Amino acid sequence: MNSPTVAIAGSSGLIGSALVSALRAADHRVLRIVRRAPANADELQWDPEAGAIDLGALAGVDALVNLCGVGIGDRRWSGAFKQSLRDSRITPTEVLSTAVAEVGIPVLINASGVGYYGDTRDRTVDESASMGTDFLAQLAGDWEAATAAAQQAGARVVLARTGIVLTPSGGAMGRLRPLFSLGLGARLGNGRQYMSWISMADEISALLFAISNDTLSGPVNLSGPAPVTNAEFTAALGRTLGRPARLAVPAFAMRAGLGELADGLLSGQRAIPAALEQAGFRFQHSTIGEALAYATARPTPQ
Ligand SMILES: NC(=O)c1ccc[n+]([C@@H]2O[C@H](COP(=O)([O-])OP(=O)(O)OC[C@H]3O[C@@H](n4cnc5c(N)ncnc54)[C@H](OP(=O)(O)O)[C@@H]3O)[C@@H](O)[C@H]2O)c1
Repeated sequence: MNSPTVAIAGSSGLIGSALVSALRAADHRVLRIVRRAPANADELQWDPEAGAIDLGALAGVDALVNLCGVGIGDRRWSGAFKQSLRDSRITPTEVLSTAVAEVGIPVLINASGVGYYGDTRDRTVDESASMGTDFLAQLAGDWEAATAAAQQAGARVVLARTGIVLTPSGGAMGRLRPLFSLGLGARLGNGRQYMSWISMADEISALLFAISNDTLSGPVNLSGPAPVTNAEFTAALGRTLGRPARLAVPAFAMRAGLGELADGLLSGQRAIPAALEQAGFRFQHSTIGEALAYATARPTPQ
């Protein structure tokens, strides 16, 4: 594909803004699909709830990347918040998938999460593993199923099951780093739950790889090759920041403070990136130590 035009929904988010920069740096044209009024000719307004999007403006797009959705860890999980997690993913994905089908866009890269697998305990899972049964698994399953129109139309659809993205600029590290820096870093529950992680540098490389690599389709784990337990992650982050983390937050206290969100943090996935590695993708950060060194590095002054 020569300098493709890539349309992105959810482009203002953590991953989306990094992807926009990477695509522009590679001289690709980026069409941002935005919910607010467009600011320039490189933006297209849509109303995901009403299903309104200008199909004509998507003509000539080579790949559409869907990264939208209310942040999973943004708030305590009330019934209303769980509904907003679903509403901000499933209907918008149906709208975009239908647009891909109607316009004939050849590629759809759709965000999803390793939460698809449910709580895997210490069982290693690749993309062939079955769907879990908890809330996040059902959310991911329904989110992926919402790409059906694009799949039926023959588009190459990649279901990008992403792990926890480690970046210097926010996300999980934005929440954890201040606590660890104060010496309040703590293992969650018994710490045996697995965490599948990926550095932002590898997340963006993997999305670019998925856009351009015609052999990739279906579920693809975007997570580093060596997932770790929460206890290992906590110790590694403490070491990286020079603030040993010896505390533990008991599961009951997490449930009292966070409601059902605590279950998401007390369970986990040991997902491996089989599809990416089979397709020849090379990780820049293969171990948690390398990824944390990258995600805690101070930006170099320009
Ligand atoms: N970051 C991670 O560690 C991680 C891990 C696994 C999966 N994921 C998934 O990957 C996707 C991107 O992650 P991210 O960290 O970049 O998320 P993010 O920073 O929360 O950004 C998500 C974007 O979705 C759009 N959005 C927000 N509310 C929406 C709504 N009600 N309806 C439609 N769109 C809405 C917004 O973009 P606009 O304002 O431009 O529309 C927002 O910037 C998300 O679906 C997330 O669940 C992320």
